[in-house]
Amino acid sequence: MKKIIIFLIIANIASCNSVRRKFHYFMDMAYSPAIDTSEFDDIGNRGGNRFPPDHTIAHKFFNSKYNRTIPGFYVIDDKYITYNINGISIGNIPEEHEIASHLISSPLRNDEATLARGKERFNIYCSPCHGYGGKGDGLVKAKFSNIKAVARPNKNEPVRAEGWSVERIFMVTTTGINAMNSYATQVPEIDRWAIAHYVKYLQLEAMK
Ligand code: HEC
Repeated sequence: MKKIIIFLIIANIASCNSVRRKFHYFMDMAYSPAIDTSEFDDIGNRGGNRFPPDHTIAHKFFNSKYNRTIPGFYVIDDKYITYNINGISIGNIPEEHEIASHLISSPLRNDEATLARGKERFNIYCSPCHGYGGKGDGLVKAKFSNIKAVARPNKNEPVRAEGWSVERIFMVTTTGINAMNSYATQVPEIDRWAIAHYVKYLQLEAMK
């Protein structure tokens, strides 16, 4: 009889709804907290174990799984993206891009395939403002005079971004720069690298 009572008590504990139970003796399926794609959990900032579907970009929080070439993590606050690399905050400011550019390196080779992809994406995402040749003469220029050239408009007119590495140009597309917004939620990371290589190519061509 004693054994039966003990069995019934154990069976009762094991089968009751764990949400109502005060102590969680062992995990079961009655309580399975859902973690959103790429959401951090409470234990040590591990990302949710689901990757965003192909050709989509995680929109809110990212961790290093999705953010393959930049160590640390970043947070998007409506418009701005700030990275936290080893405790250093990297935002949309040229000086911070310079710091970040030494902490990352391009995962792509500077070959024809990279430049072809970069050209295609640059023409879609960047040319409306910066122009097809990066000379700062896109269609938007008529409405927004702040737009800068990313490659020299003529041989004698060097532009600021010419002195920037591929890594630094990548950071511009990632966090935005001053009046220009970030493209991290529109253009996947690998394409932003291809674009950065292509901008460098445009700069070298414009100097010839
Ligand atoms: C909606 C217009 C617009 C689009 C689209 C745009 N930019 Fe910009 N970009 C700007 C403006 C405006 C600035 C100047 C920002 C400032 O310093 O105030 C700028 C600055 C830059 C600079 C720095 C130039 C310098 O010498 O300071 C780089 C590099 C750059 N953009 C690259 C890109 C790339 C690559 C893309 C495509 C992913 C892109 N931009 C898309 C508007 C745009």
